[in-house]
Amino acid sequence: MTESIETIKTEALAAVAAADTPEALETVRLKYISRKGLIPGLMQHLKSLPPEEKKAYGQQVNDLKNTFQQALDDRRAAAEQAATGPAQSFDVTLPGQWRGLGSKHPITQLTERAIEIFQTLGFTVADGPDIETVFNNFDALNHPPGHPARDVKDTFYLDDPNTLLRTHTSPVQVRYMLEHPPPVRIIAPGRCYRRDTPDATHSANFHQIEGLYVAKKVSMADLKGDLSHFAREAMGPDTRVRFRPHFFPFTEPSVEVDFSCHVCHGQGCRVCKQSGWIEIAGAGMVDPNVFTAVGYDPDQVTGYAFGMGIERIAMILFGITDIRHLYENDDRYLRQFA
Ligand code: PHE
Repeated sequence: MTESIETIKTEALAAVAAADTPEALETVRLKYISRKGLIPGLMQHLKSLPPEEKKAYGQQVNDLKNTFQQALDDRRAAAEQAATGPAQSFDVTLPGQWRGLGSKHPITQLTERAIEIFQTLGFTVADGPDIETVFNNFDALNHPPGHPARDVKDTFYLDDPNTLLRTHTSPVQVRYMLEHPPPVRIIAPGRCYRRDTPDATHSANFHQIEGLYVAKKVSMADLKGDLSHFAREAMGPDTRVRFRPHFFPFTEPSVEVDFSCHVCHGQGCRVCKQSGWIEIAGAGMVDPNVFTAVGYDPDQVTGYAFGMGIERIAMILFGITDIRHLYENDDRYLRQFA
């Protein structure tokens, strides 16, 4: 009897040692200690033994069972570790793996550059939330009731119909003026949202940089001078700026601002669609109604405001042909602008 215990023990431990997958281990386990396995089978002999041998025999079978179970557990742990890698045998003296240096997203680069340039003109950075009130985004900015920009087809309203995802960075003007007396000189970069169908030049969310300068006797000449400085710093020293008449509810007069094309310097090329000019911003003199809405006295102060689309500028400067490339976050693509 003792002999067959020893034989089974030798075979069982060898089988455990030879099993090198979880499946193989399970087969060995079933063979030896499942209910009908060989080790429980040894207990069958107990009945036929003389009473004085029963105790010792039972003890031996139990020991075998424990030894087997232990061998099985050890082997299983080793197999798991082999599958997940050598956690215990990590060599701290090996050189690390170089994963490459990251770079700033083109939108971030341009935003930071614009902030830098306007800071040299005395502007500070202001900030506002992406979720805005209808008052800040439209009412205070002199949008009459029924103005098309308010339409649910164009604007993302939230459950509370008094809140929306801001459609431009201009509500930061309102926020800032409500909290600070004049003079004011801020720029406000940030994300904006519009219900646009995405295509090569449209995205439902995009970025703008807002500028606002309010003081005594701020004029259109200040607007043109400051934007010209920005244009020269951002696009090159021979960049020129031109204003075309336009309309915005919150500025009067309003203009669209073009910079001379940085590629052909005004001669006409593919980038500027042969016009020599590139549209960069909307701007104008702050409408007196806006001052009234924020509690400023329109007889005491004047101001200019502008808003530029950052994606647009990025696409022109970096030669990006599809706005969606900026959001796919394909590292191989973005790395080009590092
Ligand atoms: N908010 C305007 C837009 O999104 C841009 C703008 C800003 C125009 C400030 C004038 C003054 O189109």
